[in-house]
Amino acid sequence: MKYLSVKEIAEKWGINERRVRVLLQEKRIEGAIYQDHKYLIPENASKPLDRRIKGQRCFEDSPLNTIDFDFKNYRKLYPSEDGYFGRYGGSFLPPNLQKAFDEIYAGYLTIAKSAKFISELRDIRKHYQGRPTPVYHCQNLSNYFGKVQIYLKREDLNHGGAHKLNNAMGQALLAKYLGKKKLIAETGAGSHGSAVAMAAAYFGLECDIYMGEVDIEKQAPNVARIKVLGANVIPVSFGSRTLKEAVDAAFEAYQKEYKTAFYCLGSAVGPHPYPLMVRDFQEIIGREAKEQFVEMTGELPDIVCACVGGGSNAIGMFEAFLDEPVNIVGIEPMGKGKEIGNNAATISFGKEQILHGFNSLVLQNEDGSPATAYSIASGLDYPGVGPEHAFLHEIGRVKYETVTDDEAAEAFFLLSRLEGIIPAIESAHALAYAIKCAKNMKSGSVLVNLSGRGDKDMDFMIKKYPHMFK
Ligand SMILES: Cc1ncc(COP(=O)(O)O)c(C=O)c1O
Repeated sequence: MKYLSVKEIAEKWGINERRVRVLLQEKRIEGAIYQDHKYLIPENASKPLDRRIKGQRCFEDSPLNTIDFDFKNYRKLYPSEDGYFGRYGGSFLPPNLQKAFDEIYAGYLTIAKSAKFISELRDIRKHYQGRPTPVYHCQNLSNYFGKVQIYLKREDLNHGGAHKLNNAMGQALLAKYLGKKKLIAETGAGSHGSAVAMAAAYFGLECDIYMGEVDIEKQAPNVARIKVLGANVIPVSFGSRTLKEAVDAAFEAYQKEYKTAFYCLGSAVGPHPYPLMVRDFQEIIGREAKEQFVEMTGELPDIVCACVGGGSNAIGMFEAFLDEPVNIVGIEPMGKGKEIGNNAATISFGKEQILHGFNSLVLQNEDGSPATAYSIASGLDYPGVGPEHAFLHEIGRVKYETVTDDEAAEAFFLLSRLEGIIPAIESAHALAYAIKCAKNMKSGSVLVNLSGRGDKDMDFMIKKYPHMFK
């Protein structure tokens, strides 16, 4: 029998060599032998089928096994003209502010959909942001657990070190077209604050960033960054002094300045049209990732996952896979435990409520007031969630799982040590889920959206987990 090398078989099957090696490690190429430190593959071996074509699923309770929904037309149908994903979303604002949001929506539908705007944004993404960001196969981490292949979509390599700039540049460009002079934004982890400060510098706009005092202390490197970039950091000192209150304060400031300022919302939350706009500006993540993954491996991933705060990196990643035979999982922060006040797992424990001008799931106290959310990750520490996630959960297309502070911390240090990549503690939640899959599944691939890099978290993590740091 004639045998071919890995290189020759990769060429024959039209996939890359790394993918052939993965198939060999998974023992999915019949008749292959390992001899004199190299693999030999029978010339007539057939290319293994995509697992899903063979009908295998990673989860027995996969939504794909039961769901009956027209995802081909999903983007056209959701959100509705008035901003609803099923019963979630909408806009609940005082009349004067509603007028400002209507102006933004009209601008979005006309300006942001024009060829000129799209071409300018495309140019910014390529030359300023450095897109496309790569998909990376974590060979060491995958080998460490042995069975499952873990891949990262490297949004940490997007300029600024997180996915947030995809949305900030889009909204700031729209603000420029609308003739606004200032950007107003909230921030939790400081990633969105830095991104908006960068966008303001790029477009020559003034910039006010509202940030809770607790987060100012936790995320000091990002606070310094925002200031160096020429923006104002306005500390928020009421309530739990974290992301929810930062949104409250930014909204209040915008109410006073909406004629000359633009509210640059950082997640797929808020009144219509923000969940739609943010999704559309972040969608580049999933579109790139899908193409890159297929190019790299010859098939789709078994699982795609991302952390969910308000839900922007996750929705940006998920959108391209909704219509594909792929299990999609959003990861919520379980923090210190299940009791209200100890986590920010809104989809797992929230109830329907209007918060910050939109209807979605919200963590609530017994009296129905919004509860204080908690997570080690400032960027996930929000008691609400984007309406599209509440909807995708309700129809069963996306599964939402949880990861604790400590599990995320373990993933944070493991990726740093094994791959030389320090993840944002937010992104480490999604990675921790992939690690759980690697421990529990027999085979398969998990594509994680690595939404940001962890430089901002290092001081805090070293102090909080000294035993893991040694
Ligand atoms: C790196 C990173 N990932 C994820 C998030 C969570 O936000 P979202 O759910 O909107 O992606 C944040 C928020 O600040 C972040 O900084």
